[in-house]
Amino acid sequence: MRFIVTAGPTREFIDPVRFLSNPSTGRMGFAVARAARTAGHEVTLVAGPVALPTPRGVERVDVVSARDMLESVRAALKTVGTGADACLVMTAAVADWRPERCAGQKLKKREMDGVLRLVPNPDILKSVRHLARHCVRIGFAAETGAPVAEAVRKCCEKGLDMTVANDVTERGCGFGTLTNRVTVVFADGTVRPLPMMTKAALARRIVALAVEAHNGRR
Ligand code: PMT
Repeated sequence: MRFIVTAGPTREFIDPVRFLSNPSTGRMGFAVARAARTAGHEVTLVAGPVALPTPRGVERVDVVSARDMLESVRAALKTVGTGADACLVMTAAVADWRPERCAGQKLKKREMDGVLRLVPNPDILKSVRHLARHCVRIGFAAETGAPVAEAVRKCCEKGLDMTVANDVTERGCGFGTLTNRVTVVFADGTVRPLPMMTKAALARRIVALAVEAHNGRR
């Protein structure tokens, strides 16, 4: 199979020296890319700004903003054609909003009035739905309350085969950790809670679930 994996945060610049972002380190996504490659799959890794080495044998595309990430995911999906043998895994923490404009020069304090106008970013999963319609589609949900309910909603709203929910308020889970405890929510409503494990072990489980979903469709 061909895995297209997104990882890390996006940055939405206010001016050349300031941006909106989040604490994603890319660890979860890089672990999925490594696990998929180790299992013998072709992997394209679309990475936001992170400080991690590229897993051996993985094709990496570096991006900065949500709009860059959308273009790179779109391009990767186009190269897999009908996508019948592909899997899209969106672990990236994509900024939902960006500043209405990015100033060309560093803004001076005196030019700022404390108000930042934001506009919505495109939703990548929704935007590529038509291109990825034959792919196995896996999303993540980083939540601070009711992770399973939110994951069920996102699974349905974004047309996913499964959503991996993590409660980022739990110790050892979510952003920047080496471990994660998640609940996988499937499109048919099945819910599978998994124990705390390393992100490497979780990545292997996700790759195995993707392969199962792919084989189940054949
Ligand atoms: O990188 P680490 O430090 O290892 O941290 C891992 C993680 C916490 C980032 C990861 O486990 C995780 O939960 N990723 C999803 C983060 C998130 O904020 O999800 P969301 O609930 O905003 O979005 C739901 C899904 O839609 C995600 O698959 C996301 O990639 C996707 N999305 C979101 C916004 C957007 N504009 N387009 C999207 O496609």
